Amino acid sequence: MGESLKPEIRVFTDLENASHSLAEMIVEEACNAVEKRGRFGLAFSGGKTPRVLYNLLASEYSSRIDWAAVHLFWGDERWVPKDHPDSNFAMAYDTLVSKIPIPPQNIHRIPVEMETPEKAADSYEKTLRAFFKEREEEISHTFDVTLLGVGKEGHTASLFPGNSVLEEESRWVAAVDAPSFFPPKNRITLTLPVINRSFAVFFLVSGAEKRKVVSLILEDPERARESYPAAMVHPKERLVWYLSEDAYG
Ligand code: 6PG
Repeated sequence: MGESLKPEIRVFTDLENASHSLAEMIVEEACNAVEKRGRFGLAFSGGKTPRVLYNLLASEYSSRIDWAAVHLFWGDERWVPKDHPDSNFAMAYDTLVSKIPIPPQNIHRIPVEMETPEKAADSYEKTLRAFFKEREEEISHTFDVTLLGVGKEGHTASLFPGNSVLEEESRWVAAVDAPSFFPPKNRITLTLPVINRSFAVFFLVSGAEKRKVVSLILEDPERARESYPAAMVHPKERLVWYLSEDAYG
């Protein structure tokens, strides 16, 4: 689909309302995917913003999702132990994964216990390719839904401005260094080729510090695409921005 897909923009009074609306969308997408494809592949975003959403999915929305048919992945991870306060897995585990009846084999965590970030990236890429290859030889689609956040300088997942990983056209997972102003330094991230094969990408963004970058991405995507990785995300079928009004509008 590429750049032609117009983003849907949904603005809410606050993060709580945006998160409720996104939770409803995830329930709908999960039902559709399970009905059409027998399973729902969901890639989690990290950072702090999704905490409210994950708590909602673990509570008032949980019974509406067939967790046995859900497979969880991570869009990026910091090179820290899986129970470290900075771990994206730990945040999702504490707020959601530990509270839902999901089969352990459906939880596809980035293996930070491996010797090096590079080996962990290679291993995770093998996991992803095996999971999606089951469906079709030439993998044209990956996750049913990929959740993403945005940093105030335009990064998404651990795809930071100016990093050579943005030129990657074949690898699906890479070990990267985050800029010094955004520790932890060592990270593993999905690349644009695998993110852009998602059926749908939903951004969830809140905070006045993100207003400038969100406005440029949504109002001047061509210029934003020159420097903001979040502007380079173009899923196959659906791109929706869930925003609190302090971040846009
Ligand atoms: C990470 C995230 C990252 C995050 C943005 C926004 O590992 O840091 O994957 O891409 O989504 O940095 O983070 P906040 O939600 O904390 O503002």
